Amino acid sequence: MKNEPVVMGIETSCDETGVGIVRGHELLADAVASSVDEHARFGGVVPEVASRAHLEAMVPTVQRALDDAGLTLDDLDGIAVTAGPGLAGALMVGVGAAKAYSLATGVPLYGVNHLSAHIAVDTLENGPIPEPAIGLLVSGGHSSIMMVEDLAGKVTQLGASIDDAAGEAFDKVARLLGLPFPGGPYIDKAAKEGDRAFVRFPRGLTAAKDMERHRYDFSFSGLKTAVARWIEAQRAEGNNVPVNDVAAAFQEAVCDVLTQKAILAAKEHGVGTILLGGGVAANSRLRTLAVERAEDAGITLRYPRPKLCTDNGAMVAALGSHLVTAGIAPSVIDFPANSSMDVEIVSLANRL
Ligand code: KG4
Ligand code: ZN
Repeated sequence: MKNEPVVMGIETSCDETGVGIVRGHELLADAVASSVDEHARFGGVVPEVASRAHLEAMVPTVQRALDDAGLTLDDLDGIAVTAGPGLAGALMVGVGAAKAYSLATGVPLYGVNHLSAHIAVDTLENGPIPEPAIGLLVSGGHSSIMMVEDLAGKVTQLGASIDDAAGEAFDKVARLLGLPFPGGPYIDKAAKEGDRAFVRFPRGLTAAKDMERHRYDFSFSGLKTAVARWIEAQRAEGNNVPVNDVAAAFQEAVCDVLTQKAILAAKEHGVGTILLGGGVAANSRLRTLAVERAEDAGITLRYPRPKLCTDNGAMVAALGSHLVTAGIAPSVIDFPANSSMDVEIVSLANRL
C-alpha cells in the first residue's frame, strides 16, 4: 500500500554488512556484503577484520540497496539499525553510519535489537505475526525461546542456552569434522547424505530433573564434547570417521531438542504459532522436523526463506517498519552501540 512506511535497515553486528529496504511488509531491497571469506582461515570471526570490512562496505551497500529499490534517501520514512547485541566495534560502524544518514536527511532513527529483528523478518514472507507467538531464535550467538506478546515492545525470554549457542555448536562440530567455517551450512549439506540414527548423541537438558530446572533452556556443549570423544575414539582405533553420518547424527540431536522444547513452550503457554528465526533456522532438518512436530501438535509453524534467516539488513528494516507502524517513538540520537544488549529490549525507543 502507498501509505505504508518505507524503512531502511542497517545490520553490522557480526560479519555481514546488511542494508535492507522495506515498504510495510514488502521487501524492496536486501543488499548484503559479507566478510566471511576473510575470517574462514581463522576458523571464526575476527572482530577487527569485521569492523574494517563494515567500514569499507557501508556506503556502497547502502547505495546498492537504494538502487535496487529504485529509491533515494529522501524517500525514507525511517532508518533502523542494529544497536546490539553483537561485536562492539562492528556494531559501532552501523550505528555511526545510521546516525549520520539520519542527521543528514532528518529521517527518524530506530536503534533496534538484532534478535527481535530475526523474529520480525518473518513478516516480509508471511505477513503480520499473530500475537502471542513463540519465537525459536537460533543463531551463532544465541539460542532462545521467546514469548512474543507484542513485537513492538513486549518480548520475554522463556529459556536460552546455558552454554554454547546452537550455531556455535554447528560451527565447532564442523571444525572437528574438517568442514569449512561457518560450519552450519556444510553440516546441513553433509547430513543429507548421512544416517541420522547412526549414533545417538546426548540431548542436553532433557532428563526429568533438568526439565524441572531448565524446562525451556538448552545446553549444547556436552553434545559437542560427546561428538569430539566419539571422533577421537574412532581415530584411536584407526577407523575413518564417517563425516556424513556424524553430521546427520549431531544435527538430529540439536534439532530434536530445539523442536521439542519450542513445542512444549507453545503448548504450555497456550500459544498457537511458532516462528523460527536466526541463522540456524536455515537448517533444512530443523525446518522439516519443526513442521512435522508442529503439525502433530496442532501448532502453526512459520519461517522465512534461508537467505532471510542468516544476518541481513532486511530483518532490521522489517522490525523498523513494524515500530513505525505501531507508533513507537524513534530513538534519541545519542544511543550507544551495546554489544550485550538485553534480549528483551526490542528497541531503544522504549527505554528512553
Ligand atoms: O543469525 P546468524 O547469521 O548470525 C548470528 O546472529 O549469529 O547465524 C549464524 C549461524 C552460524 O553459526 C552458522 O553456522 C549457522 O548460523 N547456520 C546454520 C545454517 N546456516 C547458517 N546452521 C545450521 N544449518 C544451516 N543451514
Ligand atoms: Zn543473527
